Amino acid sequence: MTTTHQPHPAHPTASAPFPPGFRWGAATAAYQIEGAAAEDGRTPSIWDTFSHTPGRVRNGDTGDTAADHYHRVSEDVALMAELGLTDYRFSVSWPRVQPTGRGPAVQKGLDFYRRLVDELLGKGIRPVLTLYHWDLPQELEDAGGWPVRETAYRFADYAALVAAALGDRVPAWGTLNEPWCAAFLGYAEGVHAPGRTDAAGALRAAHHLNLAHGLATAALRDRLPQEAEVSLTLNPAAVRPLTDGPQDQDAARRIDALANRIFLDPLFSGSYPEDLVADTRELTDWSFVRAGDLAEISRPIDWLGLNYYTPTVVAAGEHDGPSAWPGAERHVRFVPAPGPVTAMGWPVDASGLHEVLTRLRDEIPDVPLVITENGAAYEDYADPGGEVHDPERVAYLRSHLGAVHAAMGEGVDVRGYFLWSLLDNFEWAFGYSKRFGMVHVDFASQRRTPKDSARWYAEVIARGGLA
Ligand code: FCB
Repeated sequence: MTTTHQPHPAHPTASAPFPPGFRWGAATAAYQIEGAAAEDGRTPSIWDTFSHTPGRVRNGDTGDTAADHYHRVSEDVALMAELGLTDYRFSVSWPRVQPTGRGPAVQKGLDFYRRLVDELLGKGIRPVLTLYHWDLPQELEDAGGWPVRETAYRFADYAALVAAALGDRVPAWGTLNEPWCAAFLGYAEGVHAPGRTDAAGALRAAHHLNLAHGLATAALRDRLPQEAEVSLTLNPAAVRPLTDGPQDQDAARRIDALANRIFLDPLFSGSYPEDLVADTRELTDWSFVRAGDLAEISRPIDWLGLNYYTPTVVAAGEHDGPSAWPGAERHVRFVPAPGPVTAMGWPVDASGLHEVLTRLRDEIPDVPLVITENGAAYEDYADPGGEVHDPERVAYLRSHLGAVHAAMGEGVDVRGYFLWSLLDNFEWAFGYSKRFGMVHVDFASQRRTPKDSARWYAEVIARGGLA
């Protein structure tokens, strides 16, 4: 018998116990679940426009109704309480609380989030609020979107509005979710809203998202109680060269710069990587980075959120068509990692999560980490008895939580884990065709059914670790 199978005194049945106080959560995002797209003064975001543009989202799906969470807050919070979640990560829809992205807040929009937060607090669940999970007000996109510097200032104003309204009751705040996707899927590859294919514009967008984070962090600190936590969520890639040959290694270096260091370096070192600037010289001279920006971006945060799904394997090669990797198109190709895949086609490999965690421990040892998203899509369906059996998701979650546990044993300071996602939802360009929820949603009736994975996760939480 190995020591990992010994019962732990604090958690009699947990062989992989997590420390007391570890946060066990689930995550969602506004546009993916709320619906009520035109209610109570909300105006369109870039995702409303994009999803209503034929050919952009699978099956023509939109977030108009989504999981109807806007009208089902109490039911959904009750579900969270039944599962025993300690925390819930959600995002605020910018055009719901500040239509058009300028001017005063809309009271009804703020009231919705106040109700959600109060219901959570009433059940003892800690709200973790993200300000931007990709739903830029369309009017700001029409004025130039993230490639334009002004958008960063608009974002700081919006952060201040939300902080003034909810700062007395939300203990943990996140500025942006995955700025990589917002910049590069949205403005370079064009597979996410707003669907532009402008490689240089995407690099400007990345910088303005970084700046927006810094400016918003300052705005939040000014208005929030001292003990409030301020964070940012990235999706650091575990980049692996196909071989250790120099060309494949160079491909990995380029992708590491565009996926990871373009965000980590300004945040934690106050600089942009020199190799990134050199690799993209034909696209831009980076003069959009103005004096003082890097100091603004590198303000301290309380923890870094990271989202992880699958590793990234690259080799020397070329990419045809619009690419999410400005400047790397003629140097890199992406190679499927070996092994089983999820319904997204994403290889299941928890070692990538371990790799990202230990890298961050080495590079930013003083910054606590939170897994703000991890999970998997599978072809789930309710059986004739109304049950949803999803053993693959349980296996995915088990292996990834195991990787987190192992990393913590190696000195990585991980404070919490949020499963993506609480509910089946609008999976961006894939619409409703991909189900990530631990709770099944029948989108015709809006009926919620916890899948086997939800019951399994509830047991993990109750036990304080893996069995
Ligand atoms: C992440 C997003 C989240 C969800 C998952 C599957 O990149 O942050 O909204 O779509 O992927």
